Amino acid sequence: MPSEGQGMLEQILHEIERNGFALIPNLISAPDLVEINSFFNQHRSEFRPALVGAKNNLQRVESVRGDYTYWIDALNPVSPFDKLVHFLDELREEINKKFFLGLQQYECHLAFYPPGSFYKKHIDRHENSSTRSLSFVFYLNETTGGELVLYNKNNEVIKIVSPDPGSFICFMSDEFPHEVKPSSKERRSFTGWMHTKIIY
Ligand code: OGA
Ligand code: MN
Repeated sequence: MPSEGQGMLEQILHEIERNGFALIPNLISAPDLVEINSFFNQHRSEFRPALVGAKNNLQRVESVRGDYTYWIDALNPVSPFDKLVHFLDELREEINKKFFLGLQQYECHLAFYPPGSFYKKHIDRHENSSTRSLSFVFYLNETTGGELVLYNKNNEVIKIVSPDPGSFICFMSDEFPHEVKPSSKERRSFTGWMHTKIIY
Protein backbone atom coordinates (compact mmCIF):
# COMPACT_ATOMS: atom_id res chain seq x y z
CA MET A 1 0.00 0.00 0.00
CA PRO A 2 0.94 3.61 -0.26
CA SER A 3 3.98 4.02 1.89
CA GLU A 4 2.47 7.39 2.48
CA GLY A 5 5.52 9.27 3.61
CA GLN A 6 5.03 12.99 3.96
CA GLY A 7 7.40 13.15 1.02
CA MET A 8 4.95 11.64 -1.40
CA LEU A 9 2.06 13.84 -0.27
CA GLU A 10 4.32 16.88 -0.57
CA GLN A 11 5.24 15.87 -4.09
CA ILE A 12 1.57 15.55 -5.03
CA LEU A 13 0.77 18.98 -3.58
CA HIS A 14 3.74 20.50 -5.32
CA GLU A 15 2.73 19.04 -8.69
CA ILE A 16 -0.87 20.15 -8.26
CA GLU A 17 0.31 23.65 -7.47
CA ARG A 18 2.58 23.76 -10.49
CA ASN A 19 0.53 21.87 -13.10
CA GLY A 20 -2.98 21.32 -11.79
CA PHE A 21 -2.38 17.58 -11.80
CA ALA A 22 -0.03 15.07 -10.15
CA LEU A 23 1.16 11.68 -11.35
CA ILE A 24 2.77 9.13 -9.01
CA PRO A 25 4.02 5.80 -10.40
CA ASN A 26 3.94 2.64 -8.28
CA LEU A 27 1.82 4.04 -5.50
CA ILE A 28 0.10 0.68 -4.83
CA SER A 29 2.42 -2.17 -3.92
CA ALA A 30 2.44 -5.40 -5.94
CA PRO A 31 0.85 -7.52 -3.12
CA ASP A 32 -1.94 -4.95 -2.69
CA LEU A 33 -2.56 -4.99 -6.44
CA VAL A 34 -2.98 -8.77 -6.28
CA GLU A 35 -5.56 -8.40 -3.49
CA ILE A 36 -7.43 -5.67 -5.30
CA ASN A 37 -7.52 -7.68 -8.52
CA SER A 38 -8.85 -10.74 -6.74
CA PHE A 39 -11.63 -8.59 -5.22
CA PHE A 40 -12.24 -7.38 -8.76
CA ASN A 41 -12.52 -10.95 -10.07
CA GLN A 42 -14.86 -11.99 -7.26
CA HIS A 43 -17.24 -9.08 -7.84
CA ARG A 44 -17.04 -8.78 -11.59
CA SER A 45 -20.64 -9.87 -12.20
CA GLU A 46 -21.85 -7.06 -9.93
CA PHE A 47 -20.39 -4.30 -12.08
CA ARG A 48 -22.98 -2.22 -13.94
CA PRO A 49 -22.76 -0.36 -17.25
CA ALA A 50 -21.76 3.26 -16.61
CA LEU A 51 -24.41 5.69 -17.81
CA VAL A 52 -24.26 9.19 -19.26
CA GLY A 53 -26.63 12.13 -19.24
CA ALA A 54 -28.57 14.19 -16.75
CA LYS A 55 -29.72 12.65 -13.47
CA ASN A 56 -33.31 12.20 -14.67
CA ASN A 57 -32.29 10.93 -18.10
CA LEU A 58 -29.41 8.48 -17.66
CA GLN A 59 -28.60 6.29 -20.64
CA ARG A 60 -26.09 3.73 -21.77
CA VAL A 61 -24.27 5.20 -24.77
CA GLU A 62 -21.27 3.08 -25.72
CA SER A 63 -20.18 5.54 -28.38
CA VAL A 64 -19.52 7.92 -25.46
CA ARG A 65 -18.42 5.63 -22.63
CA GLY A 66 -18.08 1.86 -22.47
CA ASP A 67 -16.95 1.14 -18.93
CA TYR A 68 -18.63 -0.87 -16.15
CA THR A 69 -18.51 0.32 -12.55
CA TYR A 70 -18.83 -0.94 -9.00
CA TRP A 71 -19.18 1.70 -6.28
CA ILE A 72 -17.10 1.53 -3.11
CA ASP A 73 -18.42 3.13 0.08
CA ALA A 74 -15.68 5.59 1.03
CA LEU A 75 -17.10 6.01 4.54
CA ASN A 76 -17.04 2.25 5.17
CA PRO A 77 -14.53 0.83 2.74
CA VAL A 78 -14.25 -2.93 2.46
CA SER A 79 -10.79 -4.46 2.53
CA PRO A 80 -8.52 -4.03 0.55
CA PHE A 81 -9.82 -0.52 -0.26
CA ASP A 82 -9.47 0.72 3.31
CA LYS A 83 -5.81 1.40 2.60
CA LEU A 84 -6.53 3.46 -0.48
CA VAL A 85 -9.21 5.37 1.42
CA HIS A 86 -6.76 6.05 4.24
CA PHE A 87 -4.29 7.49 1.75
CA LEU A 88 -7.05 9.59 0.13
CA ASP A 89 -8.10 10.95 3.54
CA GLU A 90 -4.56 12.11 4.20
CA LEU A 91 -4.30 13.64 0.77
CA ARG A 92 -7.60 15.46 1.24
CA GLU A 93 -6.43 16.92 4.54
CA GLU A 94 -3.11 18.08 3.13
CA ILE A 95 -4.78 19.65 0.10
CA ASN A 96 -7.20 21.51 2.34
CA LYS A 97 -4.35 22.77 4.53
CA LYS A 98 -2.37 24.02 1.58
CA PHE A 99 -5.00 25.24 -0.88
CA PHE A 100 -8.00 25.92 1.39
CA LEU A 101 -10.23 23.98 -0.99
CA GLY A 102 -12.56 22.72 1.74
CA LEU A 103 -12.75 19.23 0.28
CA GLN A 104 -15.15 17.26 2.44
CA GLN A 105 -16.01 13.88 1.00
CA TYR A 106 -15.45 11.76 -2.00
CA GLU A 107 -17.19 9.17 -4.10
CA CYS A 108 -15.30 6.36 -5.79
CA HIS A 109 -15.82 3.30 -7.91
CA LEU A 110 -13.97 0.45 -9.49
CA ALA A 111 -14.19 0.45 -13.26
CA PHE A 112 -13.29 -1.83 -16.10
CA TYR A 113 -13.22 -1.02 -19.78
CA PRO A 114 -13.69 -4.10 -21.99
CA PRO A 115 -11.16 -4.38 -24.83
CA GLY A 116 -11.83 -1.70 -27.46
CA SER A 117 -14.04 0.45 -25.24
CA PHE A 118 -13.27 4.03 -24.34
CA TYR A 119 -14.59 7.23 -22.76
CA LYS A 120 -14.81 10.16 -25.15
CA LYS A 121 -13.47 13.58 -24.19
CA HIS A 122 -15.45 15.03 -21.28
CA ILE A 123 -15.08 17.18 -18.19
CA ASP A 124 -15.78 15.73 -14.74
CA ARG A 125 -17.40 18.81 -13.28
CA HIS A 126 -20.57 18.70 -15.36
CA GLU A 127 -22.79 21.63 -14.66
CA ASN A 128 -22.28 24.74 -12.52
CA SER A 129 -23.91 23.09 -9.55
CA SER A 130 -21.39 20.25 -9.42
CA THR A 131 -19.12 20.22 -6.41
CA ARG A 132 -16.58 17.82 -7.88
CA SER A 133 -13.19 19.46 -7.36
CA LEU A 134 -10.45 16.86 -7.57
CA SER A 135 -10.58 13.79 -9.79
CA PHE A 136 -8.33 10.83 -9.01
CA VAL A 137 -7.56 7.47 -10.58
CA PHE A 138 -5.49 4.48 -9.48
CA TYR A 139 -4.62 2.06 -12.28
CA LEU A 140 -4.83 -1.61 -11.43
CA ASN A 141 -3.66 -3.84 -14.25
CA GLU A 142 -1.32 -4.27 -17.18
CA THR A 143 -2.88 -3.38 -20.51
CA THR A 144 -1.90 -1.97 -23.89
CA GLY A 145 -3.30 1.41 -24.89
CA GLY A 146 -6.03 2.79 -22.66
CA GLU A 147 -4.16 6.04 -22.16
CA LEU A 148 -5.73 8.91 -20.27
CA VAL A 149 -5.29 12.06 -22.38
CA LEU A 150 -5.50 15.40 -20.58
CA TYR A 151 -6.27 18.58 -22.51
CA ASN A 152 -6.11 22.21 -21.49
CA LYS A 153 -8.99 24.62 -21.93
CA ASN A 154 -7.85 25.35 -25.51
CA ASN A 155 -8.17 21.63 -26.25
CA GLU A 156 -4.44 21.15 -26.66
CA VAL A 157 -3.07 17.85 -25.40
CA ILE A 158 -0.99 18.53 -22.33
CA LYS A 159 -0.38 15.03 -20.94
CA ILE A 160 -0.75 11.43 -22.10
CA VAL A 161 -0.87 9.10 -19.12
CA SER A 162 -0.14 5.42 -19.56
CA PRO A 163 -2.37 3.44 -17.13
CA ASP A 164 0.49 1.53 -15.52
CA PRO A 165 -0.52 -0.83 -12.71
CA GLY A 166 -0.21 0.79 -9.28
CA SER A 167 0.11 4.34 -10.59
CA PHE A 168 -2.00 7.24 -9.36
CA ILE A 169 -3.12 10.47 -10.99
CA CYS A 170 -5.18 13.32 -9.65
CA PHE A 171 -6.22 16.54 -11.38
CA MET A 172 -8.43 19.55 -10.81
CA SER A 173 -11.84 18.45 -12.09
CA ASP A 174 -12.83 21.72 -13.76
CA GLU A 175 -9.52 22.42 -15.50
CA PHE A 176 -8.91 19.41 -17.71
CA PRO A 177 -11.10 17.96 -20.42
CA HIS A 178 -9.88 14.37 -20.78
CA GLU A 179 -10.55 11.10 -22.55
CA VAL A 180 -9.79 7.41 -22.15
CA LYS A 181 -8.39 5.74 -25.26
CA PRO A 182 -9.34 2.17 -26.19
CA SER A 183 -7.16 -0.60 -24.83
CA SER A 184 -6.44 -4.00 -26.30
CA LYS A 185 -7.09 -5.80 -22.99
CA GLU A 186 -9.49 -5.12 -20.16
CA ARG A 187 -8.45 -1.90 -18.40
CA ARG A 188 -9.06 -1.69 -14.65
CA SER A 189 -9.09 1.35 -12.37
CA PHE A 190 -10.26 2.77 -9.07
CA THR A 191 -11.64 6.22 -9.83
CA GLY A 192 -13.19 8.96 -7.77
CA TRP A 193 -13.90 12.61 -7.08
CA MET A 194 -13.42 14.78 -4.03
CA HIS A 195 -16.24 17.21 -3.35
CA THR A 196 -16.47 20.57 -1.63
CA LYS A 197 -19.62 19.57 0.25
CA ILE A 198 -21.01 16.64 2.19
CA ILE A 199 -22.46 14.32 -0.44
CA TYR A 200 -23.86 11.49 1.69
C1 OGA B 1 -13.84 9.01 -15.56
C2 OGA B 1 -12.52 9.10 -16.21
C3 OGA B 1 -10.22 8.33 -16.39
C4 OGA B 1 -9.41 7.09 -16.40
O1 OGA B 1 -14.21 7.91 -15.08
O2 OGA B 1 -14.54 10.04 -15.52
O3 OGA B 1 -12.28 10.05 -16.89
O4 OGA B 1 -8.21 7.19 -16.73
N1 OGA B 1 -11.57 8.14 -15.99
O5 OGA B 1 -9.95 6.02 -16.11
MN1 MN C 1 -13.54 11.72 -16.31
